[in-house]
Amino acid sequence: MSGVEHAVEIRDLHKSFGELEVLKGIDFSVEPGQVVCVIGPSGSGKSTLLRCVNLLEQPTSGRVVLEGVELTDPDVDLDAARRRVGMVFQQFNLFPHMTVLENVMIAQRRVLKRGKAEAERVARENLEKVGIAEKCDAYPAQLSGGQQQRVAIARALAMNPALMLFDEPTSALDPELVGDVLAVMRKLAEEGMTMLVVTHEMAFARDVADRVVFMDGGVIVEDGQAAQVIGDPQQERTKAFLRRVLDPTHTDV
Ligand SMILES: Nc1ncnc2c1ncn2[C@@H]1O[C@H](COP(=O)(O)OP(=O)(O)OP(=O)(O)O)[C@@H](O)[C@H]1O
Ligand SMILES: [Mg+2]
Repeated sequence: MSGVEHAVEIRDLHKSFGELEVLKGIDFSVEPGQVVCVIGPSGSGKSTLLRCVNLLEQPTSGRVVLEGVELTDPDVDLDAARRRVGMVFQQFNLFPHMTVLENVMIAQRRVLKRGKAEAERVARENLEKVGIAEKCDAYPAQLSGGQQQRVAIARALAMNPALMLFDEPTSALDPELVGDVLAVMRKLAEEGMTMLVVTHEMAFARDVADRVVFMDGGVIVEDGQAAQVIGDPQQERTKAFLRRVLDPTHTDV
């Protein structure tokens, strides 16, 4: 052992669905306090990678180590390990029949067994952090998509995760609502949250991420400093992808 503990370490990770090999040997790690953005074309395996990190998917082979705990060890306490990881999806998945406050309290109560007063205090604190304290008593349907996504972020933060995973958190939002959600994520990054973010927001990736990982066809094609991967990519496939996303009218490749 080197004694250096990564927040998350992924070694030779493979994942197949039947005949289809979606992840073909992924290696990378995220250090505590780092923000790593994963970019790449549709179907390249980005969501599958994230889902393997919190074991929503069982890897076919390879290792996922979270804060020194090997998740792929058959004897691991998976529930305990999963509690260390917060996940925010494109879809917010809030309970429609519960208020915002109740949505942020429920997992604290059920999973962490926090008392009502403490769960409520933590919920209010995190709703304040994401800028929607005044919506505590509203129901999800009464909120904009951007507000609902911020509730989903507060809900994840209320569990005190060591690592936050985001899978295209702004892709379902109207363009004018994207900025508020990105601003919350930027603030989290500045506060030192460890984050692994799948995103198509290249400006966010360039400005906020410590590292950018470009995936294509189930492999990591390029991994480096954000400014370098986005501003001066080395691989042809990365260049072609960035041309397409930065200028959608571009039609080569
Ligand atoms: N549960 C599943 N069963 C079978 N195939 C799956 C499953 N989940 C994903 N796949 C396949 O794995 C491949 C990678 O999917 P994945 O969702 O990881 O891609 P992605 O990079 O997140 O794409 P997008 O940018 O469109 O979200 C796709 O071909 C997809 O159809
Ligand atoms: Mg995806």
